[in-house]
Amino acid sequence: MKAVVIDEQGDVEVMRYRDIEMPVLESGQVRIAMRACSLNYHDIFTRRGMPGVRTPLPMILGCDCAGVIAEMAPDVQGWALGDRVLADPISRFSTHEDPEPSMPIKFLGDTRWGGYADYVVVWDRQLIRIPESVSTEVAACLPVAYGSAYRMVMYHGKIEAGDRVLVLGASGGVGNCSVQLAKSVGCFVVGACGSEARCRQLKDLFGVDETINTAEEDVVKATRRLTGGSLLRGGGFDVVVNSQGGEYWAKGLRCLKAGGRMVTNGALSGFDPPTDIRYIFQGELTIQGSNGWQHEDVENLVGLVAADKLKPHIGATYPLEQGIEAHKALEERKHFGKIVITGDAPILSTTGPHQP
Ligand SMILES: NC(=O)c1ccc[n+]([C@@H]2O[C@H](COP(=O)([O-])OP(=O)(O)OC[C@H]3O[C@@H](n4cnc5c(N)ncnc54)[C@H](OP(=O)(O)O)[C@@H]3O)[C@@H](O)[C@H]2O)c1
Repeated sequence: MKAVVIDEQGDVEVMRYRDIEMPVLESGQVRIAMRACSLNYHDIFTRRGMPGVRTPLPMILGCDCAGVIAEMAPDVQGWALGDRVLADPISRFSTHEDPEPSMPIKFLGDTRWGGYADYVVVWDRQLIRIPESVSTEVAACLPVAYGSAYRMVMYHGKIEAGDRVLVLGASGGVGNCSVQLAKSVGCFVVGACGSEARCRQLKDLFGVDETINTAEEDVVKATRRLTGGSLLRGGGFDVVVNSQGGEYWAKGLRCLKAGGRMVTNGALSGFDPPTDIRYIFQGELTIQGSNGWQHEDVENLVGLVAADKLKPHIGATYPLEQGIEAHKALEERKHFGKIVITGDAPILSTTGPHQP
C-alpha cells in the first residue's frame, strides 16, 4: 500500500511517500480503507520525537482516521464491508486482555501505524459508526482535537453560562472546538490567534464575542482592555484554555481573574516555561491538566455534529500523495481549522456482507 512514512525522527525531510507492506489483520480487527485523516499538532511531535516517548519505526503518522471497512477478521461481528466508520485512535484494553502487553499504549499514528496511508488496521472496539448526515471528512476531525477539547473544557473547565472564557490558539483544532463548546454553554468567549483574517473567521464561523490578534497585541494587555483589568485588579477571565505553553504559560495565568482556573492539555510552544508562582498563590488560581478523551466523548461529539450543534471547520484537504505538503502546511500555520488528507483505496475482501 502507499503511505507517508517516517523511518527516522527529525524535521520534515524524514517523511517519505512510499510503498510499505500492508499491516497484518488479526483476530478482532478490521482494515479501514482510509477516506479521510485529519492532521494534529501531535503528528509534528511524533515526527520530531519527544523526550521520554519511544516511537517504533518505521511509523505511519496520523491519529484521526475515518473511512470504509475494507476487510474484517472472521470473528468480527456487527459490522459489514463498506460501513463508514471513524476509529477512536486509542485502543483501550484492560491489562489481562491486552494482546500486546509490551506496548503500554496503542495510539494510531504514535505507537501503531496511522492514517496517512491507504489502509489502517484497528480493533473492532475502536470503531464508531458515522451517521449519514455526517461526512467522512468531518468525522475524521473529531477524536484527538475535539475529543481532548471536550474533556478539557466541559469536564475539567467546568464552564458555566456567563463565565468569561479565553481560548489561546483558537484558530487550531483544539481551539476551534473549545470556542464552540464555550459558546454553546453561554459563556462570553474571547479567541486569541495569530492574524486579523483568523480573528475574523472566529467571529464569522463560531460567533465568538471578541478576538485578540496576538501578532498585534499582547494577550495580557488585551485582557485588561476587554475585562477592565487583570488578575488582582478586578478584571480577568474565569477560565483560560491554554494548550500553547511556552511564553503563553505565564501570560495565561496573568489573564485570569482572582480565583480563576487555567486548563491545559498541551505545550505546543514549550513544555518547561518559566512561571511566576506569586500569581498562583496571590490570585488563588487553579491549574488543571487534562489528557485525552473517553471513547464515549467521541461518540457524543459525532452526535453533536449530526445534530448540527458543532461544526468542525476544515481549512484545507490534500490527497494522500500530497500528505507531506499537508503536514508542512500544519507546521507552517497556513490554514485555519483542521487539515484533512483524503484517500480512495478500494475495498479488498469479497467475503462477508457488502453494503454498497
Ligand atoms: N493531551 C491531549 O490529549 C491533547 C490532544 C490534542 C491536542 N493536544 C495539544 O494541543 C495543542 C494544539 O493542538 P492542535 O492539534 O489543535 O494544533 P493546531 O491545529 O496546529 O493549532 C495550534 C494553534 O496554535 C497557534 N500557535 C501559537 N503558537 C504556535 C507555534 N509556536 N507553533 C504552532 N502553532 C502556534 C496557531 O494559531 P495562530 O497561528 O493563529 O497563532 C495554531 O492554529 C498541541 O500542543 C497538542 O499537542 C493535546
